[in-house]
Amino acid sequence: EGVEEKREMPWRKKWVDPEGVEGRVLGRRAYEVWVSEIMLQQTRVLTVIPYFKNWISKWPTVYDLAQADHDEVLSVWKGLGYYSRATRLHQGAQAMVANNRDFCPIPSSAEELQGFPGIGRYTAGAISSIAFGEAEPVLDGNVARVLSRQIGLYVNVKDKKCNDFLWSVADKLVKHVSDFPNTKTSAVPGNWNQALMELGSTTCTPRPKCDDCPIQSTCRAYSEGQILTEQLTTPS
Ligand code: ADE
Repeated sequence: EGVEEKREMPWRKKWVDPEGVEGRVLGRRAYEVWVSEIMLQQTRVLTVIPYFKNWISKWPTVYDLAQADHDEVLSVWKGLGYYSRATRLHQGAQAMVANNRDFCPIPSSAEELQGFPGIGRYTAGAISSIAFGEAEPVLDGNVARVLSRQIGLYVNVKDKKCNDFLWSVADKLVKHVSDFPNTKTSAVPGNWNQALMELGSTTCTPRPKCDDCPIQSTCRAYSEGQILTEQLTTPS
């Protein structure tokens, strides 16, 4: 249901190759998802948008970024903070281009993606699901809060065992969802994952707006009156 509520973001635009080359469309989309996810890691959506647009106009593809001057990369990043994110993005682009793959420079599998600089489990899952439609999970602080409230897991989501468990929940859900294709647009791994992120960042916030929530009826924390239980509200 979250899909109907989705906000406009420049990296959500469909990209069309003028010559209709599919590998280019996928590569361009994967690159845009990658850049946006790295920018969004410590920065809010509204702050990211102008930086994202500027970045993409400077380096529209992974090939352009690979050839960029590193000082220029850092200066375009300026203001976003955490410069190591920019450095690793640049290194990652160079490593991918050096692999000289045919069809598409950016791999579609989450496992392969995780071998590149700056791409951890979250970013790999985001690129793989959003750009390539693979049934791969994502888990960040927002998604962890949504899932732990849904299942009434009243433990600290930053705890390693708990975090592993939530990854397995996210994995089962996204795989289950993609077992039922064509039922709804939301039943597409990338939309599913982004709907969870969006719910966590807009409605299922540390102080949640349960009256606006499309999945209130299945929420265990809500039905048990535990929405504000401290472990679920600690911002991560
Ligand atoms: N936060 C991080 N990635 C996001 C995405 N793809 N959509 C919405 N919020 C996000």
